[in-house]
Amino acid sequence: MIHAKNIHKFYDQLEVLKGVDLHIKKGEIVSIVGASGAGKTTLLHILGTLDKPSKSDTETSLTINGENILKLNDKALSNFRNLNLGFIFQFHQLLPEFTALENVCIPAYIAGKKPSETEEEAKKLLAFLGLSHRIDHKPNELSGGEQQRVAVARALINKPDVIFADEPSGNLDTHSAENLHQLFFQLRDEFGQTFVIVTHNEELANMADRKLIMVDGLISNTEVAKDE
Ligand SMILES: Nc1ncnc2c1ncn2[C@@H]1O[C@H](COP(=O)(O)OP(=O)(O)OP(=O)(O)O)[C@@H](O)[C@H]1O
Ligand SMILES: [Mg+2]
Repeated sequence: MIHAKNIHKFYDQLEVLKGVDLHIKKGEIVSIVGASGAGKTTLLHILGTLDKPSKSDTETSLTINGENILKLNDKALSNFRNLNLGFIFQFHQLLPEFTALENVCIPAYIAGKKPSETEEEAKKLLAFLGLSHRIDHKPNELSGGEQQRVAVARALINKPDVIFADEPSGNLDTHSAENLHQLFFQLRDEFGQTFVIVTHNEELANMADRKLIMVDGLISNTEVAKDE
């Protein structure tokens, strides 16, 4: 599902990623933990095609769903992203002029899906996340945690094969966080979705099928998925 080889990232002189190798198989839930500044978000952005590795020599490769994504041009890449990948970030960007429901539906409209089916699906997701009573409100009328849950629903609406999450439950109370974590596992079981989750939440990190530990720009425990 995801094969990353020899991923490097420099910010000026600072080498933030020092040749990360990573295999994640379909339907796997992988957590990434590590100290602040270890390079977790940087790695997630590169795996999620939002950023590029610094040196792309023959040693470096990144394949997602069989697609060599370092070879795609910008248009092909954003197309690929819209159809295959979902993102849940701590600082989510909801569109302020649209309601919660509309924000969730937008990626599906972009993908050309039918409005009626999309709305039904969006309402289902929002209900699961405990937001049925807030769907017609705009982001500035929602609490931080509610906004985060809207962003989660938005990330899931196109049923992407891979979901990248950076501190997904960082702004949530214990109960909402547990619901969200439960949702991840439910989606994996139901749709075989793959999750890559950066988290400081011990419980979530340990629930994952595999916990990768990032230390100083490298993954320190390098066990790889066996069957793929
Ligand atoms: N755009 C940038 N320009 C320069 N340096 C950056 C940039 N983004 C990140 N860094 C640096 O790269 C290092 C890794 O950052 P990264 O955001 O990947 O860490 P992290 O593991 O996600 O940390 P945290 O747990 O605090 O979110 C840090 O030292 C950070 O200051
Ligand atoms: Mg980070």
